[in-house]
Amino acid sequence: MSNTIQRSWFDQYMVPCFSPAQFIPVRAKGSRVWDQEGKEYVDFAGGIAVNSLGHANDELKKVLTSQIESMWHVGNGYTNEPVLKLAKILVENTFADKVFFCNSGAEANEAALKIARKYALDKYGSHKNEIISFENSFHGRTLFTVTVGGQPKYSQDFAPLPQQISHLPYNDIDAIKAHISENTCAVIVEPIIGEGGVIPADPAFLKALRELCDQHQALLIFDEIQTGVGRTGYFYAYEETGVEPDILTSAKGLGGGFPIGAMLVKQSIAEVFQPGSHGTTFGGNPLAAAVANQVVVLVNQPEFLAGVQERHHEFIKRMSDLNQRYHVFSELRGKGLLLGAELEKKYQGKAKTLSNIAAEEGLIALIAGPNVLRFAPALNIEEQDINDGFARLENALKRFVQE
Ligand SMILES: Cc1ncc(COP(=O)(O)O)c(C=O)c1O
Repeated sequence: MSNTIQRSWFDQYMVPCFSPAQFIPVRAKGSRVWDQEGKEYVDFAGGIAVNSLGHANDELKKVLTSQIESMWHVGNGYTNEPVLKLAKILVENTFADKVFFCNSGAEANEAALKIARKYALDKYGSHKNEIISFENSFHGRTLFTVTVGGQPKYSQDFAPLPQQISHLPYNDIDAIKAHISENTCAVIVEPIIGEGGVIPADPAFLKALRELCDQHQALLIFDEIQTGVGRTGYFYAYEETGVEPDILTSAKGLGGGFPIGAMLVKQSIAEVFQPGSHGTTFGGNPLAAAVANQVVVLVNQPEFLAGVQERHHEFIKRMSDLNQRYHVFSELRGKGLLLGAELEKKYQGKAKTLSNIAAEEGLIALIAGPNVLRFAPALNIEEQDINDGFARLENALKRFVQE
């Protein structure tokens, strides 16, 4: 048997909860990726909205290697300099007063949901424990977060599930008005539903959630794991909406490719977690915190965020031009560089087929459900990468409509 590392090893040795592409990426720089055979791809997926500054960004490499030389891990019996810097910069640049660090989006949401339950218990009593979430939402894969997510296919096989969780239609003000009560402890919402189809929230819906939460003493949690850290052209998407959450969760782009998650909260909520209430071994480790700090420094600049908006218009224009020629998409949606293209009726269910053809043509793209092609490229993707990416997408669309 050959000792060369092969894709078949995935099927042989790994738990089959993913179905990765047949090629194996081995090297990446900026918005380009190369596989084992040396084939080159343009990356419009950004590691699923993670590689905010592209692959192997020089400035991130510099802080990571410097931190590697000084200290990797000390455990939470001690704090460390990079995490203190990161907490300070996040607090100074958001609505929040305090931050809890972890390693992923699901863990950030797990912390948010737990602190919301404890806040309600401590302040109002055990009756106030209902969590309201929205149909089609996605909040992670722990048992709590998968149950709160609004896609039963991800939770139904793991019963018994956590209780007192309700799912209401997204963007439906009347539905939540009719449902929310004094038993509601928190409402969790994605400002743009990501995995579930790239569906932006109506500003009026988010405003109504804020008002209803205030009326019923419930906490409003924004899951900004996909929309945060410059993705929508704002540092966090809530800034554009004019609605401030009580709790915000962040991950993905925050580490620019290094795993980190964060829960941002107001002071009065933070106080209900005392030593022992919640924890993590790796959360806030110096390596992740050093990289994330540099990501925040680079992304949260007016010129950088303006660049995201410019690229948004560029992507939409090019998608519209292509669609005038190939008539594959019924709608283009999204903000900043989180973009979704809904397939026309006759192509429903074929998003994966299209993204597979795109990969054959040398373009890495994402899907968001069976009917939506999704792009979440590096926020600093360069003109040449955009040109080449769309040329390859055109080749893919030509084949897609023929096949
Ligand atoms: C909105 C949202 N919340 C939570 C998660 C879960 O994050 P992770 O996979 O890092 O646990 C994701 C991941 O796709 C997400 O898009």
